[in-house]
Amino acid sequence: MDATKLSLAPMMEYTDRHFRHLVRLVSKKTLLYTEMVAANALCHERRNQVEEYRTNNALATEEEVQENYSDQYLQRYLKQGKVDPLEGASVLQLGGSDPKQMYEAAEVVMDMEKRGWCDYTAINLNCGCPSPKVAGKGCFGAALMDEPKLVEELTRALHDGTSGTMPITVKCRIGTDSQEAFTKAGYAQADEEVEYRRLCEFIETIAGGGIVTDFQVHARIAVLQKSFSPADNRKVPPLKYNLVRRLVHDYPELSFSINGGVESVVQAQQEFEACPDLAGVMIGRAWAADPWSFAMTDRVLYNDSHAPKNRLEVLQAYGKHADAEEMNGDPTKIRRFIIKAITHLFTGESNSKRYRIALDQIAGIPKKMKAEGKTIEGQPPVSELILNAAYEHLSEETLLRSPEESYERKLHEEMNRLGSIDGMNTRSNAVAQWQTQRKEEEEELETA
Ligand SMILES: Cc1cc2nc3c(=O)[nH]c(=O)nc-3n(C[C@H](O)[C@H](O)[C@H](O)COP(=O)(O)O)c2cc1C
Repeated sequence: MDATKLSLAPMMEYTDRHFRHLVRLVSKKTLLYTEMVAANALCHERRNQVEEYRTNNALATEEEVQENYSDQYLQRYLKQGKVDPLEGASVLQLGGSDPKQMYEAAEVVMDMEKRGWCDYTAINLNCGCPSPKVAGKGCFGAALMDEPKLVEELTRALHDGTSGTMPITVKCRIGTDSQEAFTKAGYAQADEEVEYRRLCEFIETIAGGGIVTDFQVHARIAVLQKSFSPADNRKVPPLKYNLVRRLVHDYPELSFSINGGVESVVQAQQEFEACPDLAGVMIGRAWAADPWSFAMTDRVLYNDSHAPKNRLEVLQAYGKHADAEEMNGDPTKIRRFIIKAITHLFTGESNSKRYRIALDQIAGIPKKMKAEGKTIEGQPPVSELILNAAYEHLSEETLLRSPEESYERKLHEEMNRLGSIDGMNTRSNAVAQWQTQRKEEEEELETA
C-alpha cells in the first residue's frame, strides 16, 4: 500500500516514458501511471504484425510466429525507459470496453514483457475519461461507470489475459450525469445519498468479482450528456472528497486513492491527515505544471532521505535518457516528446519562458534539418543542447536551488491558497499558468 501513497495520474500526451523518467528523477517513490493505451490499438497492431510475419514466412511454426513477429509499433505504446533509474513502480493504463479485446491486449502486454520491453507493476482500467473521442465510442472510459457488470468482466479478462500475474486496478469517477442532466444548480440540490449508493454499487460489483481491490477515484462526476470539453469535465463538476472518504471508511478491505484538484505535497499530506486510512493521493496537472515542486515528496510523504540535489543534477541525468532514446530512435519523430517532458521544470523562475523557447527550438532541429535535406549527424548530442540552454537562460542560483528552498517557497504559496476562503477550489499559480499555456498551444495547433 505504501507504494500508492503518491501517484502520478495518467495523462494522455504527458505521462509518456520521457515524462515518467523525469518524475522518477524527482521522486524515487511516486507510483507512475502511463498515458491511456487503447486495447484495440494493441490488438490491431499485433494481429497485423503476426499476419505479416506469417505471410512472409509460410513455413514458420506457430511458435516461431509468436516469437518473431515485429513489435516495433507496439513499442511505441508499451516500451519503458532503459536508462537508470528505471521506472520502477509503474502502472499501465488501458482503455476499452470489449472483454475479448481486453484479454488479447493483456496478452500483448505479457508478450512485450517477455521480450524485455516493459515490466509494469499493475494494469489499470480507465473508467474515468470523459473525452468525447473516448466516451463517444460505445461504452468506454467514464461511460463504463454506468455498466459495473461489464467493468467486472473487463477486469476478469485482464486478469485472465495476464494469467493472474498482475494486479488489476480501476480508475473511476464518483459517477456520471446519466440519471439527471447536469446543471450546476440542479447538481447542488441532488440527493448525495442516492449518488453515494450508486457509487457503492459500482465499487461492490467490481470488487465482488474478487479481482480488483484497488481503486483510484477522481472525486467529481463525469458529465457525458452535455458537450463538455475534457477540460471542463476536470473543472466544472464540483469535487466531492467526502464521498471518497466515505468509501475508505465503509470498505476497509479495499484501498482507495483520491484524485482531482490536489496540487502539492502539502495538500496531499492534508488529505492523509483528513483521512488516515486513505491508500493514496493521485496528482496529474500539478505534476505536469511544476514537477520540481514535488522534489521533497520522498522525504515528506515517505520519510525517505532521498531528494534530488538540484535541477542541474536532474537535467544532467535526464540528458543520459535523452541521448539513449535518440541513439535508438528517430530524432525527427521523438525529440519533441523528449523535450516536452522537461519544459516545465523551471516553472515560476525568472527567465523560464526564455528557457522554454530555447527548448522549443532544440525540439525542432531534427525536423528542420531533414526538411533542408540534412541529417543531424555531427550535431552535438541533445543532452548538451539542453544543458547549454539551461546555462544560457537560467541563473546559477536557479539551477542549484535545493529542493528544501523550493519547497519553502511552495509551502508559502500553498498555505496562502489553502488558507483562503475558497482555497480548495482555487488553482495554484503554476497550474493556472499551465492551463492557459496549454489552451494557447491547442489554439495554435488548430489555426496551424
Ligand atoms: C492532459 C490530460 C490528459 C489526461 N489523460 C488521461 C488518461 O489518459 N487517462 C485517465 O484516466 N485520465 C486522464 N486524465 C485525467 C487525470 O488522470 C486526472 O484524473 C485529472 O486530471 C484530475 O486530476 P488532477 O486535478 O490532479 O489533474 C487526463 C488529464 C489531463 C489534464
